[in-house]
Amino acid sequence: MEINSVVVIGSGTMGSGIAAQLCNANIPVTLLDLKTEISQKAKERIEKSRPPLLIDKSKIDGIKVGNINDDFNIVSEADWIVEAVVERIDIKHDIYDKIFKQRKKGSIVSSNTSSIPISVLSEKLTEEDKKDFCITHFFNPVRYMDLLEIVKNENTDLDKIQKLKLFCEEDLGKGAIVCNDTPGFLGNRIGVYAMQIAMTEAFKMKLTIEEADAVFGRPMGIPKTGVFGLYDLIGIDLMSDVLKSFIKELPENDNFQEVAKEIPLIRKLIDTGYTGRKGKGGFYRMSKVDNTKILEAINLETGEYSPSQKIDIKSEKVDLLKLINRGDKYGDYAWSVISKIIKYASSLVPGITDKFNDIDEAMRLGFNWSRGPFEMLKEIGVSNFFEKIDGFENNKFLEELSKSKNEDFYGERQKYTEIETLGKIKPKAIRLDGNNSAEIYRFNDFNIVEFTTKANALDYDSMDALKKATDKPLIIINESMQFSAGVNLTYAMNFAEKGDYSSIEKFVKYFQDTCKELKYSKYPVVSAPSGLTLGGGFEVLVQSNFVASHTNIVVGLVETIVGLVPAGGGCKEMLWRWSQTDEAKNDPDYAPLKVFDIIGYGKTATSPIEAEPLKYLLPENKKIMSRNSLLNVSRSILEENKDFTPPTEASFKLAGKPLKEKMVKLLEKLYNDKVILDHGIVVGTELANVLSGGDTNLDKTLSEDDLYKLELDSFMRLIETKQTQDRIKHTLSTGKPLVN
Ligand code: NAI
Repeated sequence: MEINSVVVIGSGTMGSGIAAQLCNANIPVTLLDLKTEISQKAKERIEKSRPPLLIDKSKIDGIKVGNINDDFNIVSEADWIVEAVVERIDIKHDIYDKIFKQRKKGSIVSSNTSSIPISVLSEKLTEEDKKDFCITHFFNPVRYMDLLEIVKNENTDLDKIQKLKLFCEEDLGKGAIVCNDTPGFLGNRIGVYAMQIAMTEAFKMKLTIEEADAVFGRPMGIPKTGVFGLYDLIGIDLMSDVLKSFIKELPENDNFQEVAKEIPLIRKLIDTGYTGRKGKGGFYRMSKVDNTKILEAINLETGEYSPSQKIDIKSEKVDLLKLINRGDKYGDYAWSVISKIIKYASSLVPGITDKFNDIDEAMRLGFNWSRGPFEMLKEIGVSNFFEKIDGFENNKFLEELSKSKNEDFYGERQKYTEIETLGKIKPKAIRLDGNNSAEIYRFNDFNIVEFTTKANALDYDSMDALKKATDKPLIIINESMQFSAGVNLTYAMNFAEKGDYSSIEKFVKYFQDTCKELKYSKYPVVSAPSGLTLGGGFEVLVQSNFVASHTNIVVGLVETIVGLVPAGGGCKEMLWRWSQTDEAKNDPDYAPLKVFDIIGYGKTATSPIEAEPLKYLLPENKKIMSRNSLLNVSRSILEENKDFTPPTEASFKLAGKPLKEKMVKLLEKLYNDKVILDHGIVVGTELANVLSGGDTNLDKTLSEDDLYKLELDSFMRLIETKQTQDRIKHTLSTGKPLVN
């Protein structure tokens, strides 16, 4: 069975996301809805979506649209028909009736339902048709959420399920987990339970919503949105419907029932239009006082709003054992929440899946947790857990573990996939070294460096790890969401605040030396980015010899946005890339002016396809839909380059002063048009200085070191200005650039 053509029925949020992902995989897809206008509108939404659902917007016409009356015969050509209509069983049954009359024999039919069991969806199908029917539960937004739950029951043809799984893994790039037909499947059953526990414990333990979100977030390896923030994001009304469905579907004695009951405050919020970010606000709301926006947080006892308080529980790195043993209210809350999640998840094994490991993976892929409940248990330690826990009735998994006290109960990771992922390799590799910011592993005859800081911000330790790891072929890759959001600006600002600029200079120099070593070491270096690959993160990538990029990357040099210029070789490498073009051969100013435009505006690309025209990526860089395959592709690059020889050093001929003047003229125009302000001129002029080659002319040849020096000098002059420091501080405290 090959999947060469797909029909998606229902062009709402999910149907359009699924169609877009099929289009990303170059699979012809038709999107049907009640009327063609609806599916046509959906197509327009796909094209305009932010973050973009399409990797390459020019491929939009790979999605055909139509309606279920005039165009239904297309179903007879499809190898896979995905139903993503509204969550109403009568409507779904009607659609299946039509589909199974029309479809070709052997094709797969699946529903994207989030809450209706297969047994109910397929109750009107013949035994033969039931074999080809399953649930494919994608998460929103489809391009970016890695989890796909493929749900089967006793009637499903498992061979077919396996083939569909492979297609979804390899072609659609999803982490496809096959699971049983139980309410909420894996991800939502545990994820929604975890949210309810985090919420109800916050009420019970009298934590403010900011405090609860500060604990049930990064310190636990959970996205920083926390629980109340996530409620607002999903929609408080939608969560209420989800809970009602769990109450209906789950047995009365299921522990979920206790925490699914409606809380009076939630009803009040929904009734008054406070449904979350899409409504008037939710647990948090933006309010305007004297024309300035203020974030306010609700008081869980009174329902009143007051300005939101920033809570810092001083826990930069995830250390669960330390967290639950803090001995303060935050530690007590964390233990209460974590222990209940572990108890609940383990009580469901083997009912919802016989592989407990799959639950962790569902939480990782579907909720972006860095570790699932069983990994939390492993990290806390089996003995430590049982010393602290106050009972675990009717829980076979924990009963057995309490007897065996087997600290190594976990076994292999990521059993759901056959692909040899980083997660699978790490436990088998030798951990060579590590520090606060990165880990170095040796596997067979190559090294792996994995960055480990928040958003993988780079500092001295990250560079140190890279430097140490160049004694073998090297792959730079990681399991967390971002490759690297850039240099750790807090680290730089700590020195700046003390006036210790020489330490900053030393660090930038070390950064440059490291990147140079990556580029010219005896052994090949492969960067395998996914997620944010910005600023310094991009400079690591661009000075690696090879790139295997996930299609979900956001890549670019964004330094000017905080009032700096790239100083880790970013300007130099971009100049080099653009100077290799035909246009540059005829015009010595072509490359520097192009790069001036790209770096000056801090342009970013949201896919490898967008990155190529900017030359952030090159045509020879590998582009991969499946994140799980990044390590394998990187390994095959090393394999193919056994006779690797480092590149020859680049050299540059730049025009110097007259070119700089051209660039400054461009800046003046932008200033007069009010596109940039005073400090924009300062930053732009420093960038012009670097890209024009400083004190040089076209008869002179500049080396890479000369360009590194220009980058460093401009960077240092800028970081010493108050305006740049204000921009950095603003970005660090708000996560947003200062626009002036
Ligand atoms: P939606 O409300 O955004 O879109 C539903 C679409 O179905 C609409 O365009 C509607 O015109 C169309 N439709 C209704 N009756 C139809 C019919 N008879 N024939 C063809 N089209 C018809 O809904 P959404 O959010 O996309 O949900 C679709 C399915 O995916 C539901 O089963 C839902 O439970 C499930 N789901 C939703 C998720 C989400 O985050 N929104 C996540 C995972 C699953």
